[in-house]
Amino acid sequence: MAPSDLPILVTCGLPYANGPCHIGHLRTYVPADIYVRGLKKLGKDPLFICGSDSHGTPIVVNAEERGTTPTELVALYHQHFDDVFGRMEVEFDYFGNTDDPSNHRRTRSLVEALMEEGYVYPQEIQLAYCPSCDRSLPDRYVEGICPYCGSPARGDECDQGCGRHLEPGEIAEPLCKVCGSKAGYRTQKHYFFQLSAFSDFLVDFLQELGGTTNARNYALEWVKQELKDWCITRNLDWGVKFPGHDELVVYVWVDAPIGYISFTEEWALRADGDFERYWRNPSRIVHFIGGDIVYHHCIFWPAMLKGAGYTLPSAVVASGMLKIDNKTFSKSRGYVVWVIDDYLDKGLHPDLLRYYLASYTSHTKELNFSWKIFAEKVNGELVGALGNFVNRAVTFTAKNFDRSVPAGDLDPEVTAKIEAAIAEAKAALEEYEFKKFADGAMALADFGNVYFQSHEPWKLAKSDRVRCGAVLRNCLQIAKALAILFSPVMPEKMESAWRQLGLSGTAAWAQFDDALVPMDAGRKLGVPEHIFEKIDDSMVSDLEEIFRDRVAALEAKKGKKGEEKMTAIKFEDFQRLDIRTAVVREAEPIKGSEKLLRLIVEIGSEERQIVAGIAKTHRPEDLVGRNIVVLANLEPAKLFGVESRGMLLAADLEGSAVLLVPETKTPPGTKIR
Ligand code: MF3
Ligand code: ZN
Repeated sequence: MAPSDLPILVTCGLPYANGPCHIGHLRTYVPADIYVRGLKKLGKDPLFICGSDSHGTPIVVNAEERGTTPTELVALYHQHFDDVFGRMEVEFDYFGNTDDPSNHRRTRSLVEALMEEGYVYPQEIQLAYCPSCDRSLPDRYVEGICPYCGSPARGDECDQGCGRHLEPGEIAEPLCKVCGSKAGYRTQKHYFFQLSAFSDFLVDFLQELGGTTNARNYALEWVKQELKDWCITRNLDWGVKFPGHDELVVYVWVDAPIGYISFTEEWALRADGDFERYWRNPSRIVHFIGGDIVYHHCIFWPAMLKGAGYTLPSAVVASGMLKIDNKTFSKSRGYVVWVIDDYLDKGLHPDLLRYYLASYTSHTKELNFSWKIFAEKVNGELVGALGNFVNRAVTFTAKNFDRSVPAGDLDPEVTAKIEAAIAEAKAALEEYEFKKFADGAMALADFGNVYFQSHEPWKLAKSDRVRCGAVLRNCLQIAKALAILFSPVMPEKMESAWRQLGLSGTAAWAQFDDALVPMDAGRKLGVPEHIFEKIDDSMVSDLEEIFRDRVAALEAKKGKKGEEKMTAIKFEDFQRLDIRTAVVREAEPIKGSEKLLRLIVEIGSEERQIVAGIAKTHRPEDLVGRNIVVLANLEPAKLFGVESRGMLLAADLEGSAVLLVPETKTPPGTKIR
């Protein structure tokens, strides 16, 4: 089979069924949907699959906190995502759930295949354990420090620092998330997937992998460093039972991507399709994912598929970062747009946001969302350029030619512009560049406006009716092309344009090449109406206010929480802290960490090594000789393999360190009380 004839499967990273849909999700799902709709316009028949990611510790923790069960929580958000995708016109062929029986079955069968091939082995490991809760602390139950970069990290990932996946037991200075006390370790038997055996395979695989370069290049870097085997079992009730061990479930990152397979099976059952066509035979599998889960999709997942004998992905398309009002996206700080509450329920049309997400920037670059820019794009580009052009072509024809398509030839210039726009759209899809896709079509709308303006049909209507008709015919043809080209981005709005143009069928079903098929002269147009409406200033300020109020409320709550948490302590408790002045004798960076410095400090008669997270604010050479303050009796800990015996005290000014220093030079070891 020629590669272009292979069956195509497109997937989106599965949303955790653990909270409402936000704009960050859409940054991946909308472009994926545009891609699928675009492929259909090339005459292809892609299958588009997604579903809820229902397992993992965050869901268990969240259900516990809300006094509900994981099953109920998951059902709630599964329904929610299904609804939002419908309303946002993200049209999956199947939207599954990783807790469905088919995924339990497929996961066990895939893991058993890996075991039969000898890729799974048991090993005793030291796992975080909370002595006061008397429970093991899998993944999100533990918080601590990333051993690679020194950032605060949660469970299985360094989500605020280097982005690495963390294996059980790797996190430094572990604290129990439930009770906040210091976690200990306990030896337990777990099962490992021999990822290290796949290094050579992965290097070759990644070199051939399609999609965006950000995904491929990051993954290649990681593979070149060293692959650690991967612990694939957890002590948890919620999840897919590990074959032969009812006390263990598989790690969520095992059964989640397997959802891609089991959802294809579910779809096949319902649609009389064939799942092996996609997963057991040569096919083209394209994964759209957020930039934070490249490791899982480019390393774990292909290795698992390879080991168990499934078809490998052809492309991984990773979206870039998201900012809200130029601030890093953050749900807890309020820098977020909730798709239902903040957008759809405010009466805003899904197509406007779809256009924003597609056209703001390249798929792999940082996208900034603000209501101001949103309004500018809607008013300038959608209302001003695209809507205005289509409306002028249709209303002018309606008025002067009794609402029917005038006769005449297509200008070679017009044909050439439409051809170029089609070529641009095709190239954009191949490159996964949705901005290029949207901009190419918008350039045609701009051309349309110039064409209309410069041919002055309002003058020709009086002086040369035939020529006037020909000009309008060309404008209508451009409008038809626009409806087709923009349909993947703004499906519903373009159906409105399609109806106004009196065309048969739908814009969704039209192929790109249909944009060049001349419209029949004499055919009746539909009733003209404005496709887009302006967003006025008061709407923008209302939306901005909601956003600002939320950020402020969270800020205030956080402040309060901080105060509440600090309960009063006894003087004896304070006395147990051995705080002393010290002098820095040596300071140097720690290899591989952007944040940590290794210091040798003198405390009284003793010299100590301590690790301090001040590399971003202080140069080592400026520290030597300085009089500082340290907590001397903090339990020793290892960071990046470097032992730290004590803690340098500093004020935390929005994450950057301001050193505490004695008022006047004080001999090292002086006690602070
Ligand atoms: N739920 C995961 C996340 O949001 C994505 C899972 S994708 C899959 O990060 F491949 F595992 F399914
Ligand atoms: Zn890290």
